[in-house]
Amino acid sequence: MKVLVVGSGGREHAICWKLSQSPKVDKIYCAPGNAGIGQTAELVPIGAMEFDKLIDFAKSEKIDFTVIGMDDPLVGGIVDRFEAEGLKVFGPRANAAIIEGSKAFSKELMKKYNIPTAAYETFDSYERALEYIKKGSFPVVLKADGLALGKGVLICNDLEEAEAGLKTIMVDKKFGESGNKIVIEEFLTGQEMSVLSFCDGKTIVPMVSAQDHKRAYDGDKGLNTGGMGTFSPSRVYTDELADECMKTIYQPTVDALQKEGRPFKGIIFFGLMLTPKGMRVIEYNARFGDPETQVVLPRLKTDLMEIFEACVEGTLDKINVEWEDSGTACVVLASGGYPESYTKGYEITGLEAAEKADNIIVFHAGTALKDGKFVTNGGRVLGITGIGKDLDEAIRTAYKGVELVDFKDKHFRKDIGIK
Ligand code: AMP
Ligand code: GLY
Repeated sequence: MKVLVVGSGGREHAICWKLSQSPKVDKIYCAPGNAGIGQTAELVPIGAMEFDKLIDFAKSEKIDFTVIGMDDPLVGGIVDRFEAEGLKVFGPRANAAIIEGSKAFSKELMKKYNIPTAAYETFDSYERALEYIKKGSFPVVLKADGLALGKGVLICNDLEEAEAGLKTIMVDKKFGESGNKIVIEEFLTGQEMSVLSFCDGKTIVPMVSAQDHKRAYDGDKGLNTGGMGTFSPSRVYTDELADECMKTIYQPTVDALQKEGRPFKGIIFFGLMLTPKGMRVIEYNARFGDPETQVVLPRLKTDLMEIFEACVEGTLDKINVEWEDSGTACVVLASGGYPESYTKGYEITGLEAAEKADNIIVFHAGTALKDGKFVTNGGRVLGITGIGKDLDEAIRTAYKGVELVDFKDKHFRKDIGIK
């Protein structure tokens, strides 16, 4: 099979890496990809939002199967467009990807089908939202309705902060049109974890759990980032919790979407919080997580291509998805200054040594090739995944890899997995 993967981050590198192990896959293309992905896949210089060009490419190259990694094209309807051309594609249609595209939609869905989540109200009027927060309690969580690169969520500790936050989202439109509507939510406390799952419209198969570190600095200090590291499994997600989530969250979500005439085929990412009152859904995403994918896929024993095909065909119930009983940890190497301003173009050394080392996988997120050498080309540059017999061994192995690779102003957290 010839497979096209759409996206350019560490997540897409992990998807290409896993697909390259499938006996069914002969050739992988990635659009637009990055320099590291170019070691596994042939790079295609087409952006993820250039649907016409991607369709032309898939037709002219006779691509058998396309995998969409990123949220923007999914929410924008890339799967509907591919299907209309008779092309096989993995990912939800726009009417199902809306669980990520609109927080108001996903909250209403959860309320209607009794899926446990934080209490909330939705407003499209600034004045009414303001009235509401003046009567409410604190902290309170403000969420811009639409996609905002994971940045449209503000946790406000008092009325002053909430008034300022409301203005930022709804009046100043810091997150653009996604701030036309706002979800105002009860503040929850507890451990957060991520569970990704394969879905074929009716059957859902959860993957092994993971945990993300979103803040830039050790001890969860500093600004929120796209993710500074992950580990799998979560230390708090027990088999009992998994069973309970299957009954109260995972299957009900897939059933709800089917009932609403929005069958979900692809990956549902459940952002969960274990609160004193039980598990709550914090958010849904309609795709693999980044960098969760970099710790989850290395533990997958089953052929990923076979699972993707089963999701599209609606035969996921026929597949036995198996996992290694191991631990994994991924430490992100970022450019100093990220998530604010940083410099690109620094030479990266030690990649070969890290790639050759046992139980270490190097996933590229923001790299480029310059005069035959890898250079930094983004905020998050690399993700170094360590595999171990358990989590602690995985963490030690990942940090061994971190020491092997270097570039100017390399920044990473030293406490990944210590949570
Ligand atoms: P989201 O984009 O919805 O995942 O929100 C981003 C982050 O904000 C989450 O990962 C949580 O850490 C935090 N968050 C979101 N909603 C809540 C909530 N209701 N209570 C406490 N923290 C929240
Ligand atoms: N790591 C969180 C996300 O992919 O949204």
